[in-house]
Amino acid sequence: MTDDIGERMRRDWDARAKEDARHYIATGESDGVLFSLSGCRDAYRILEELHPRLRRDMRVLEIGCGIGRLVQFLALIFDEVHGVDVSAEMVEQGRAFLARLDNAHLHAGDGRSLAMFPDAHFDLVLSYVVFQHIPDKDVVRRYVAEARRVLRPGGLFKYLVKTTPWAAQGEEHDTWHGVEITREDVEAWNEELGFELLNGYTGDDPTTAWVVARVPGGEGAGESRGEQREQGRGR
Ligand SMILES: C[S@@+](CC[C@H](N)C(=O)[O-])C[C@H]1O[C@@H](n2cnc3c(N)ncnc32)[C@H](O)[C@@H]1O
Repeated sequence: MTDDIGERMRRDWDARAKEDARHYIATGESDGVLFSLSGCRDAYRILEELHPRLRRDMRVLEIGCGIGRLVQFLALIFDEVHGVDVSAEMVEQGRAFLARLDNAHLHAGDGRSLAMFPDAHFDLVLSYVVFQHIPDKDVVRRYVAEARRVLRPGGLFKYLVKTTPWAAQGEEHDTWHGVEITREDVEAWNEELGFELLNGYTGDDPTTAWVVARVPGGEGAGESRGEQREQGRGR
């Protein structure tokens, strides 16, 4: 990705956040407490299928966290939650929105990497309605590689991709109409990066699909960092 694309993503999302962050995060559900209710519902839907593998003491990351619509609920469920976003304006508003939660931490990123986090640091990485706005396939691939790097063995990555164009054929991809990601892209990345596919390219929306991937190894499905620490294997 050229720096130009990174700059464009930051500039456009900063402008959207300044104009009306809630509208661009949850169009049609941005009013009052409806915004948070939509986050509660989406957090439930995202986590429900994973629940046998989840534990309270997991360290969780959301890529493209906005002002923390999902993070506010993730932080009630998990001990430590981080969000990263390309827009410093989203992050600033999000820090105010999440001020009561001392286990939720938001970071402004470069729009392509998770450079602020060490290797094998997280148990669960999530990304919802973010990659569908990224105009460059290499940037999405880079995030998948970065998720692989920051996940511990046994860690999970659940992310949503755009599968078909939203507008007429030939429309340019931009920071709203992102690039389509095929099943073949996902399979090639998993193979190359060493992700095991738990649930590939599924969903009920015709233009998007969920991918759930797992880093091989670890101590068995769902064994928590707390359990590992107790047994002297913690990080
Ligand atoms: C539709 S909002 C969704 C926010 C959040 N995931 C939620 O569901 O409430 C998309 C978010 O992705 C962020 N974003 C867009 N491109 C990004 C990139 N390349 N890296 C990180 N965040 C990005 C935007 O700034 C925005 O906050």
